[in-house]
Amino acid sequence: MTDLVSIARSFFAPGKGILAEDESIPSATAHLAKYGIPASVEMRRQYRDLFLGAEGIEQYISGAILFSETLLQKGNDKKLFPKSLVARGVVPGVKVDLGTEPIPSAAFGTGSTSPNELITQGLLDLPERLALYKKQGAVFTKWRAVFRIEGDELPTAAAIHENAKRLAGYAKDVQMEGLVPIIEPEVLLDGKHSRARSGAVIAEVLTILFSVLDEQSVDRASIILKTSMALSGSESAKKDTPEEVAEATISALLASVPRQIAGIVFLSGGQTPDQATENLAAITRRAKEVNAPWPLTFSYLRALEEEALSVWKGKEENVPAARAAFLARLAKVSAALN
Ligand code: G3H
Repeated sequence: MTDLVSIARSFFAPGKGILAEDESIPSATAHLAKYGIPASVEMRRQYRDLFLGAEGIEQYISGAILFSETLLQKGNDKKLFPKSLVARGVVPGVKVDLGTEPIPSAAFGTGSTSPNELITQGLLDLPERLALYKKQGAVFTKWRAVFRIEGDELPTAAAIHENAKRLAGYAKDVQMEGLVPIIEPEVLLDGKHSRARSGAVIAEVLTILFSVLDEQSVDRASIILKTSMALSGSESAKKDTPEEVAEATISALLASVPRQIAGIVFLSGGQTPDQATENLAAITRRAKEVNAPWPLTFSYLRALEEEALSVWKGKEENVPAARAAFLARLAKVSAALN
């Protein structure tokens, strides 16, 4: 087994998952604003420290995805975040995409545009940035593409193919640099779509993505897939049961994901902490029932942080209670993997 493959597999240690602490500056600003917390470099440092510096996280997490700014910041323990994580047995990684922009009409041929679809940027100077992040302590990386469902029209084949090409180019560069790639084609929860449509889109996106990864000779064995669960849209009246989510999610993944990849991690995507926990538990059970070929775990951001942020409110005196809420949620999400 190569080093990259053993690192990739190590994230799936029993009861452990990956903490996503990787919001870009605009996303972190918007997220903190929801809790009435004003953003600044120092406030973002405190925000990251609230989670990364919480004592005992290593019981539940094997890795943490950071934002590039955070690689260079120190926690309250006065250690750089990557060093402090490594000292506690948590592998540091970094988000390397540079966010999304509306997809250019050129991708669709003449006369056709898709203003509602997004393409992820960041390939241009990626090799140089990867070499830098590696020096700064990153061992793995993440690139996120986003797909919105709208009736039968979106996502378009052109948007799927262009994002798949970029995810594959990213994964190739990352493996060349000796880092583990997480590929994250997120199918958004927003919309009125059914759970069946969500599952079908996940399967379609992943089928195309894995065929493009093969065309570009990306090594499957050190790939980690970060995926959405198959859920009814947030604006649909339907409330899915965990068993329904598990059945639809595992079916979509069995139809589209090769057995050789290192494993699959789930994003929470706007689900409540309880939903993301209960759905993960049902998915874990279903995967065991059908003998699914890949290890599975979580890589949540919002579902792990929501309760803690409501307690913290950006105030020093609330840190112990906020961390207690975070650890309590981590323990529940970890237990969902049994
Ligand atoms: O890219 C998205 C994050 O890594 C996961 O965030 O769990 O809030 O969807 P989420």
